[in-house]
Amino acid sequence: MRDVAVIGVGMTQFGELWEQSYRDLFVEAAVAAMRDAGVEKIDSMYVGCMSSGLFVGQEHVGSLLADYLGVAPIPALRVESACASGGAAIRQAYMEVASGMADVVLAGGVEKMTDVDGGMATYALATAADAEYEGFHGATFPGLYAMIAHAHMQKFKTTSEMLAHVAVKNHANGSLNPYAQFPAKITVEQVLGSTMVADPLHILDCSPVTDGASAVIIAPVELAQKLGKPAIRIIGTGMATDTIALHSRKDITRLNAVEVATKKALEMAKLKIEDINFAEVHDCFTIAELVVLEAMGVYKRGHAGPATVEGETARDGKFPVNPSGGLKSKGHPVGATGVAQIVEIVKQLRGEAEEGRQIKGVKRGLAQNMGGSGGSSVVTILEGE
Ligand code: COA
Repeated sequence: MRDVAVIGVGMTQFGELWEQSYRDLFVEAAVAAMRDAGVEKIDSMYVGCMSSGLFVGQEHVGSLLADYLGVAPIPALRVESACASGGAAIRQAYMEVASGMADVVLAGGVEKMTDVDGGMATYALATAADAEYEGFHGATFPGLYAMIAHAHMQKFKTTSEMLAHVAVKNHANGSLNPYAQFPAKITVEQVLGSTMVADPLHILDCSPVTDGASAVIIAPVELAQKLGKPAIRIIGTGMATDTIALHSRKDITRLNAVEVATKKALEMAKLKIEDINFAEVHDCFTIAELVVLEAMGVYKRGHAGPATVEGETARDGKFPVNPSGGLKSKGHPVGATGVAQIVEIVKQLRGEAEEGRQIKGVKRGLAQNMGGSGGSSVVTILEGE
């Protein structure tokens, strides 16, 4: 296998983007990534997208987007693993370059979620749960994560205040990110006083419904050197699955797919979790950030909440988490999220994060992307020069 690097990154504004179509969003991010890499041609592309059929009535998006980007007839494939679709697209592109099948591969992600009303968006998202045993009975993702939160509260004495601290920290980071959908700084009191969506999760514990796209260019390390680009290497990748339905798990406070994907990525990189300097993780709900950090082994089970309150996961803490603002503040256009996490890690490792957001002296970053309530997860580890 060849050594592989990310040589270009790009993304659109995240938000409610009435003026831009699905295809325009993707092309904007893809062109930005190609310009950043200094390449005019790509050999192949993968597009993370969860549900273009239900959100914009469009399938067959690999070909559509290759055509609209002007790169047809290259191979172009949509990759779907619910909200982990973007991370899965990165992994496919990595494997194609590492194997030598292609040199310059674009991994992108796009979702346009706000063209449908809230009920339809909730339905489209819920199709990533177990349709027969969860969706059919009215379970939604806020509801499923609320069950995880209740179980975690009972088992580990986690409190609503601890959850609120996750949102406050991620909005503080997002307030410095010009691409964020909800850049407002918020307080614990505001989170606890906001509308209850699914007890104990308030609206400010939830990631929003978002339009947006992101893209990266992946190539062999030698090509990065030839082009004079900083080679941000992909040194580990892991993917794992779990039961889609929560009721099939022995313990719903444990995310086994995240545990296994992290272990695989760390083994490949020949590292321990302590060797990682910071992470972008899948905080689709505040409780998710805590259970993910515990599954990754950053904290013992039940310890991520108190550590967040202590500021350990803040930008200037021991282990910064979601310096981009995370899904909570930056926004969560589901198919684009996993790729946007890589965009942030690459910017941080290049030392190019926007004013105030740059974490000093970081060498290795980890991205953790998750499908549904943990039915799939992809973990990617990157190393700077
Ligand atoms: N965070 C912060 N503010 C939010 C928000 C969020 N997650 N969602 C909406 N808002 C704001 C809106 O901008 C709006 O503000 P305004 O009145 O000043 O314009 C207000 O809150 C109400 O917005 P609205 O769009 O009517 O909210 P909604 O009730 O339709 O949707 C949620 C709120 C939480 C239900 C929706 O964002 C949601 O379903 N989130 C979860 C998405 C999800 O499940 N993703 C997959 C994860 S696995």
